[in-house]
Amino acid sequence: MNAISMPPRVRMTGIAKRYGAVRSLRGVDLEVPPGAVLGLVGDNGAGKSTVSKVLSGAVVPDAGDIEIDGRRVSFSGPADARRHRVEMVYQDLSLCDTLDVAGNLFLGREPMRRICGLRVLDLGAMHAQARDMLKGLGIRIPDTRVNVEHLSGGQRQAIAIARAVSFDPKVLIMDEPTAALAVAEVEAVLELIRTVSAKGVSVILVTHRLQDLFRVCDRISVMYEGRNVANRLIGETSLEEVVDLIVGQRFNGRTAHQPMEN
Ligand SMILES: Nc1ncnc2c1ncn2[C@@H]1O[C@H](COP(=O)(O)OP(=O)(O)OP(=O)(O)O)[C@@H](O)[C@H]1O
Ligand SMILES: [Mg+2]
Repeated sequence: MNAISMPPRVRMTGIAKRYGAVRSLRGVDLEVPPGAVLGLVGDNGAGKSTVSKVLSGAVVPDAGDIEIDGRRVSFSGPADARRHRVEMVYQDLSLCDTLDVAGNLFLGREPMRRICGLRVLDLGAMHAQARDMLKGLGIRIPDTRVNVEHLSGGQRQAIAIARAVSFDPKVLIMDEPTAALAVAEVEAVLELIRTVSAKGVSVILVTHRLQDLFRVCDRISVMYEGRNVANRLIGETSLEEVVDLIVGQRFNGRTAHQPMEN
């Protein structure tokens, strides 16, 4: 198969989702090539998190198709998505505060060994593998035995991303990974996104920090009221245009829905 006919890593077509009277998604189309970083932007309530959850299996859509590497898939839960190597890092990170760094990285898949026929946790192996895993991603955390509740926001974010990456995803979705971080921590997460995409993982980055788009994304998709209203390659757009696409839609939408009275 040559490069031209190669299917995108992810193709979502006509994705719709309704919650009662709220039409969260009204026909979303998204494509992400292998190893690309797609920035998904839009106003509050535009549907970014919902579309991310559909792709990660956490929300089942009412309509639409998902293809991974050209094959139609349907996910009835996050375990299905994981089987198809789609991982998502949620904004609340879903870390277990009372476990240490290594415990979080291996939660549910801890290395075991046998002592007198009994299966016991192989702590030595777990910490060694955790250190390797972090090192491989360029994440600097001095001690894998520290409970994650004591880590900084950026370190916690890095652990959540490292855990997702450890499932060897083809697609990694991150919902607002830099929203709560200090400047240096943002840089570290952006660098981590670059590292992960350089390994061939397709990344979908949901963010309100528009300046980040221009640091790591190849392309962007702008959502408005449950639809994507613009797709751009990053080299063919500007911060001003992205702002216009997000805010301009709102303005046009308002004037369209509520004509001014004279
Ligand atoms: N479980 C739910 N029940 C009811 N309505 C929901 C649910 N999840 C999302 N919605 C609604 O769907 C719409 C899209 O929400 P979504 O969270 O996807 O937006 P978003 O683009 O991620 O916004 P933000 O930038 O504020 O995170 C909103 O109107 C939201 O209130
Ligand atoms: Mg959201």
